[in-house]
Amino acid sequence: MKKIALGVCSSISLYKACEIIRLFQEEGFSVRVIMTEKATRFINPYLFTSLTGERTIVHLFDEQQRPIEHISLVDEVSLLLVAPATANIIGKLASGVADDFLSTFYLAVKCPVLIAPAMNEAMFLHPQTQENIRKLKNLGVEFVEPESGYLACGKKGPGRLASPEKIVQKSLRLVRSKEIFKNKVILITAGPTREFLDPVRYLSNPSSGKMGYELAREAYELGAEVILISGPVDLEPPAEVYVEKVITAEEMRQAVLKHYARADVVVMAAAVADFKFSQSLPDKVKKEKIGPSLTIEKTPDILQELGASKSQQLLVGFAAETSQVTDRAFQKMKQKNLDLMVANDVSRPETGFGSDDNEVWLLWPDGRSKKIPRMSKRKISQQIFSEIEVLLNERQRNS
Ligand code: C5P
Repeated sequence: MKKIALGVCSSISLYKACEIIRLFQEEGFSVRVIMTEKATRFINPYLFTSLTGERTIVHLFDEQQRPIEHISLVDEVSLLLVAPATANIIGKLASGVADDFLSTFYLAVKCPVLIAPAMNEAMFLHPQTQENIRKLKNLGVEFVEPESGYLACGKKGPGRLASPEKIVQKSLRLVRSKEIFKNKVILITAGPTREFLDPVRYLSNPSSGKMGYELAREAYELGAEVILISGPVDLEPPAEVYVEKVITAEEMRQAVLKHYARADVVVMAAAVADFKFSQSLPDKVKKEKIGPSLTIEKTPDILQELGASKSQQLLVGFAAETSQVTDRAFQKMKQKNLDLMVANDVSRPETGFGSDDNEVWLLWPDGRSKKIPRMSKRKISQQIFSEIEVLLNERQRNS
C-alpha cells in the first residue's frame, strides 16, 4: 500500500485534513500525519492517530518514536503533502530552517512535495509570502492555490484552503502520473445536450455527466492535459482541467472541432441528443399554437465526423443501448471508425443514466470484447484508461 505523509499546520482549516485522509484511504493509500507543535493547540494528535491507525508525529525528539524517524519514513512515502500550510511553514521550508519534525522531514524527502496554503489574505498576498512561494516553486515544489472567499478572520479574499477533493486530485496526479500520458492532450465530452424548441422547452436525455467527469479526472491524474467539453450538468469539474461548457449538440460539435487537431485521444462520453426541433424560436410559444405534431431532425453526429477525418487521434466512443447491446455497439464502432467502444445497457436503473455505478462491455475493432462487471464509475474510468494506455503504447511501439 502506498503511503502519503501529511503535514498539518496551525490553521483553523486543519479540520479539513480529516476529509483529506478519508479521500486518500478510499483510493487505497495509507496516511502518516505530521503535526506542527502549534497545530496541537487546535486539536489533539490522537484524532489523526485514530483516523490513520498510525501514531501522529509531532516532535523531533520523542522516546516512543523509532530512532531518526524523519530519515526512516523518507523511504516509505510517495508524497509529502502539507495541508493546511501556514505562512510560517512556507517561510521555513523556503529558507531551509529545520527546527521541528515537519521542516526537517521536508529537507530529507526525495518524493514530490505539494503545499496547500491557508491563511489570512494579507498574509498570503504579502510580498514575503509570495517570494517564499516562488522560491519553493523554483525548487520544484508544487502548490494547490488557495480559494477566494470568507476567511476565518472575517475578511474576504484569497487564502481559504482549497477543497479536499482538489488537494487529493492534485496529490494523486503527482503520484500516479505515467510517462505515456505526459504531454498528451485528451479531449473528453460529458453530459447531455439540450435542443431547444423555445427558451423554456427542450429535447434532451437523463445523462448526469458522472462517467465523463470521472474520465476527465482519471486522465488528469495520469498526467495528461485534459480538455473537458461539458453539457449542462450539476458537477464540480476536476482540479486544473480546462472546461468548456456547451448546451446544444451544435455547440458541442464546434467546441470539439476547435480542439480536435491537437488531441491525441478523444473520449466521447457525452450523451449527445440525437434530435433537435426543426425550428428553434427566440420567444416562448403559446401552448395552443404547438402541435398536434412537431417536426424534428437529426443533430450532427460529432463522433462520425471525427472518425471520418481522424489522423493521429485515438477515438473512444460510448454506446448506450437497451437491447442487443454488444451487437449494436459493434456496428456503431465500425460505422464511426473508432479504436475502442464502451457499451452499456441503460435499461437497468442501477447501472444506467445518473447512477454512481456502471457495468460495461469494452469492444475493439478486431472483434475482441471484454466485460467490466458492475463497479463505481470511478473504477470503470480507470479500467477504460488502462486499455487506452495499452493502445497508446502499441501506437508508440509501431511509430
Ligand atoms: O449513435 P449513438 O448515438 O448511439 O452513438 C453514441 C456515440 O456517438 C457516443 O460516443 C456519443 O457521444 C456520440 N454521438 C455524437 N453525436 C451525436 C450522437 C452521438 O458524437 N449526435
